Amino acid sequence: MNQRPAILIARAVFPEVVARLREHFEVETNDEDAPFTPAQLIERLQGKVGVLTTGSERIDAALLAACPQLKVVCNIAVGYNNFDVPAMTAAGVLGTNTPDVLTETTADFGFALLMATARRITESEHFLRAGQWNRWALDMFAGAEVHGSTLGILGMGRIGQAIARRGAHGFGMNVIYHNRSRLDAESEAACRARYVSKAELLQQADHLVLVLPYSAESHHAIGAAELAQMKPTATLVNIARGGIVDDAALAVALREKRLAAAGLDVFEGEPCVHPGLLDVPNVVLTPHIASATLKTRRAMADLAADNLIAYLTRGEALTPLNAG
Ligand code: DGY
Repeated sequence: MNQRPAILIARAVFPEVVARLREHFEVETNDEDAPFTPAQLIERLQGKVGVLTTGSERIDAALLAACPQLKVVCNIAVGYNNFDVPAMTAAGVLGTNTPDVLTETTADFGFALLMATARRITESEHFLRAGQWNRWALDMFAGAEVHGSTLGILGMGRIGQAIARRGAHGFGMNVIYHNRSRLDAESEAACRARYVSKAELLQQADHLVLVLPYSAESHHAIGAAELAQMKPTATLVNIARGGIVDDAALAVALREKRLAAAGLDVFEGEPCVHPGLLDVPNVVLTPHIASATLKTRRAMADLAADNLIAYLTRGEALTPLNAG
């Protein structure tokens, strides 16, 4: 009797997705859902041809050398900075991610974070819950205007464009963006966005949203020098990846009021958060949940599972990142 291929699901996923994978494969799961250490991951991957990962599992040359049977790694995320793609290609391992299914949901959250940050929603809620509200005042928690202001977007992929559409069409914002490559005229018109240099973006944005992928080039794309170029009344929103912002420099800028406020869903070294950010009131902090609606997280897990099934049964993935 032919033995069915063995796969690992590195983090807990929806039971229906596990059941679907069990129709095709011998499936090992991580019932505790704690991220594996690199050594544990290598141990669990022995004899496995495929694995479903999240951003918590690093797939690098050392792991690939220790897991020679591995053929495919399917990330339940659109970002894949946890993959060393050249090393995967060299080892003949295919990687996949989950584009499209989370675009609008993530853009909704980016906008929610922008609104909460600009309008000081969590800061004022903490004040109220602490029993400090004893009178209404004209300037109480007066924040920054959103409608009609200038929205800057750094990174103009699918999610950046979805945020631009919300800003331009929903809030009458003047949208400017910077990206490695400029969009074509039709795409710029669809989201009413104007291409500017990075320096112009930093200087002109009232609200700057970061949506670019993390890489060696984008590491600390927003550091002390960039923060110094922004308006002191501006807000910064990061829904991309920790590491794109120098969190220590940001904490100082917020404390010294050289930047009005920040909304952060991602952090350098998460789930740890720089203590300087926990100390300042003018920052809204959320635990990497921009794509977290049940419908979208299910769609991401389904797409990752579909990629695994398609590649291991038909040799063709739906959203491949490399040639494998
Ligand atoms: C993504 O899809 O990249 C989200 O950040 C979840 O990791």
